[in-house]
Amino acid sequence: MIYQYDPTMRWFLQDIDAKSFEWPWENWDKYVIKVSMKEQVIRGFSIFQIVPNSVLILRLATHYHCRNEGVGSELLADIEAVAVRHQLQLICTMVHECNDLGIQFLCRRGFRAGKVNREFFSDGRDTINFYKSIE
Ligand SMILES: CC(C)(COP(=O)(O)OP(=O)(O)OC[C@H]1O[C@@H](n2cnc3c(N)ncnc32)[C@H](O)[C@@H]1OP(=O)(O)O)[C@@H](O)C(=O)NCCC(=O)NCCS
Repeated sequence: MIYQYDPTMRWFLQDIDAKSFEWPWENWDKYVIKVSMKEQVIRGFSIFQIVPNSVLILRLATHYHCRNEGVGSELLADIEAVAVRHQLQLICTMVHECNDLGIQFLCRRGFRAGKVNREFFSDGRDTINFYKSIE
């Protein structure tokens, strides 16, 4: 099930975040945060922003103990439902060029690669924009 974030969940989300990304998320009081939870256990979270015409996914991660159980798909389906509810045409996100799992996850769910942001990171690595059109 997907729940709205509340600040008591922050420590758990930070733990998932630290184990999923190279750099920590810091804006826990900004943007929309949704949490996947089963039997009181937090399994993953998404952070996104509604911008003109689209939903921008800023973070989406599953606890590594809960991967390949449909949590990421559940979080993404929730974001797609938000896009439909707000009559937005596009879902966008940005993925690190070396994140093969993330890229595969998005492509299998109808996302297409867009612009490459060259040397986005201070170590010179790129990010790739991904987008999905909503019918
Ligand atoms: C990418 C990421 C979010 C995927 O999360 P996840 O919860 O493992 O995703 P799902 O379980 O929904 O899907 C992963 C695979 O498990 C399979 N799966 C889903 N439910 C399953 C089940 N009940 N039993 C067996 N396999 C299952 C799916 O078929 C899927 O494979 P596919 O992509 O070939 O279709 C996760 O690996 C992660 O947190 N990565 C680090 C953060 C990151 O890279 N974020 C950017 C992603 S946009």
